[in-house]
Amino acid sequence: MMLITHDRLRATAIRIFRAAGSKPEEAGIVAGHLVEANLRGHDSHGVGMIPTYMESLEAGTLKPNRAGRVAKSDGAFIVYDGERGYGQVVARAATQIGIERARKAGIAVIALRDTHHIGRVGSYGEQCAAAGLASIHFVNVIGNVPRVAPHRGTDARLSTNPICIALPAAEPGRPMILDLATSKVALGKVRVALNEGHSVAPGLIMDSQGNPTTDPKAMFDTPAGALLPLAEHKGYALSFACELLAGAIAGSGTLKKANRDKHTVTNGMLAFIFDPKRLTDQEWLTGEIEEITAYVTASPARDPGEPVLIPGDPERLMRKRRIAEGIPIDAVTFDQLADCAARLGLDRASFAG
Ligand SMILES: NC(=O)c1ccc[n+]([C@@H]2O[C@H](COP(=O)([O-])OP(=O)(O)OC[C@H]3O[C@@H](n4cnc5c(N)ncnc54)[C@H](O)[C@@H]3O)[C@@H](O)[C@H]2O)c1
Repeated sequence: MMLITHDRLRATAIRIFRAAGSKPEEAGIVAGHLVEANLRGHDSHGVGMIPTYMESLEAGTLKPNRAGRVAKSDGAFIVYDGERGYGQVVARAATQIGIERARKAGIAVIALRDTHHIGRVGSYGEQCAAAGLASIHFVNVIGNVPRVAPHRGTDARLSTNPICIALPAAEPGRPMILDLATSKVALGKVRVALNEGHSVAPGLIMDSQGNPTTDPKAMFDTPAGALLPLAEHKGYALSFACELLAGAIAGSGTLKKANRDKHTVTNGMLAFIFDPKRLTDQEWLTGEIEEITAYVTASPARDPGEPVLIPGDPERLMRKRRIAEGIPIDAVTFDQLADCAARLGLDRASFAG
């Protein structure tokens, strides 16, 4: 495990994306998004995704330098076609259009289709919150094999289908950002455990026979095992709702057979972005958020070292720490990045240095 400053990691990722054909702006956005995920403690969605992105580029299922386009615009409703671009660029552009529409119309409903992996969904919630808007995002994942078992099932039939709910900050810099996979654990976190040589906690995954296991390798065997849904039937129900909202209603497609074996990652997203001031007075709302936050977080902590937080706090705390101390990158991930760089004709030695 080594600690790398966020600046150096970003510069490294930018070099890789530039060598892989992205123009400077795109390389900066994608690298910035991935490093931000690392900074916020979500290494599963950080620079460790780069080898997967390179595979998609090679397979032609990810196209550089495409920001997508509005395919349909009807009042508050916008259909955004990602045109197989980098999700970080496409979803950001679609969210910006949604923000502008919600400022005018009070609400925007964005249906995002045919985009490569959009990364940490919370980043789009943060984008809305920073604009003073609230947002709800439902996401599904197609293009690859299912990863998550339905409640009562013994094999994977859905994916990690994340949900994000974001609210602008009452207190500067402290928006409420709920951003979670509907599986007990994100697949990328199992990959991180495998790379670091750890087992995963009991109760998170099952092997290909449907038996509980703590060996992360089970998720990457052929046939592969399955992640368990969050909170048994409740997470499964939320995941199924994501599949219908982000897959069917947003028009991106669900995990049916034709969408399972394309060796890529495609995210569908249905996002509702709205202006809370259309419903309540801003000052009153700020006061309510402040008071309920103070009340809830004042619950005496079971462990004094672990106070009660609100969603979004752990990521902000981790960000502060990692900006100061650096981002831990395990040797396997580092090697994979160096391999990517070497395959793109960059000098491996200068990259590692
Ligand atoms: N693009 C995709 O296809 C895809 C798929 C799955 C997950 N993801 C992303 O993976 C990331 C990780 O998801 P995850 O489910 O592993 O995250 P997680 O289990 O760490 O949960 C994160 C959420 O829980 C909140 N939280 C954590 N500890 C808390 C505490 N003590 N008190 C209050 N709130 C707390 C966080 O603020 C955050 O909102 C997310 O950013 C998600 O968007 C993306």
